[in-house]
Amino acid sequence: MSDAKIIDGKVIAADLRAETAVKVEDFKNKFNKTPTLAVVLVGEDPASQVYVNTKSKMAKEIGMDVGDHFLDATVSEEKLLELIDKLNNDQKVNGILVQLPLPSHIDSRAIIDAIDPVKDADGFHAINVGRNSIGGDLLSKTFTPCTPLGCYLMLKKSIPDLKGMHAVIIGRSNIVGKPMAQLLLEESCTVTIVHSKTRNIEEITKQADIVVAAVGRPLMVKKDWIKEGAVVIDVGINRVDHPDKPGKTKLVGDVDYDDVFSVVSAITPVPGGVGPMTIACLLKNTVDAAIRQQVEITT
Ligand code: GUN
Repeated sequence: MSDAKIIDGKVIAADLRAETAVKVEDFKNKFNKTPTLAVVLVGEDPASQVYVNTKSKMAKEIGMDVGDHFLDATVSEEKLLELIDKLNNDQKVNGILVQLPLPSHIDSRAIIDAIDPVKDADGFHAINVGRNSIGGDLLSKTFTPCTPLGCYLMLKKSIPDLKGMHAVIIGRSNIVGKPMAQLLLEESCTVTIVHSKTRNIEEITKQADIVVAAVGRPLMVKKDWIKEGAVVIDVGINRVDHPDKPGKTKLVGDVDYDDVFSVVSAITPVPGGVGPMTIACLLKNTVDAAIRQQVEITT
């Protein structure tokens, strides 16, 4: 297999982290403060614990401060809202990340919308979702959700000018599918979202210049779904039984990588594709939040 086709998320993410580290250093020198991310995790879901620990480790590596807030799965919505209020009012905290999903007794929307929009490093607050959707000048006031931003930055490596490209996004989640569509529309792509109720999905994906798969269904996208020369971004991170090692598991994407490889012009691997980019984008958003808050204070 030729490596030229592989969009290496690890390398692109390392470059973005290096750029962000420079911004962190500048910020510290200019304002004598350290950009700080507050991470809120409710419960003990092992995958969420891994994500959160990786985010904290990477943030510290580039010189940021991190405050971890790990709460019991039984915490009440009221207590969680109190914590968000405290973090909103803490001058030291620049970015707030509440790891999703939250337990079912908590209204996630109420929690996300309680975050101060200028500290919303995930870009999930309704105000930021609205600004992303309107686009244009408002993009300088919003935060773009980290996974779609990471996908977009990787896509630009393969297709610098996205104008007029037909992008098909598989999945309509608020975290990936919908914000991905907004981003690509802003780049003047023709955007189609397909989802679990779409008929003949593969006939639609087959027309795409770009396919972004974000459904959480292991190896769903096969070779006959993809047009020759398309660029494929695989957001899926699915743990499945290892095909050759009994009792072991492995990570696979939503795309059957080995099957589609011969038809694509470029593709992101799993692991080592979108995952590292999501974290790098979170760090970027947090430093950008710190800079924006500073501008607000000084103007
Ligand atoms: N859970 C899965 N992806 C994400 C994400 O990007 N941000 C948060 N907060 N939770 C998630």
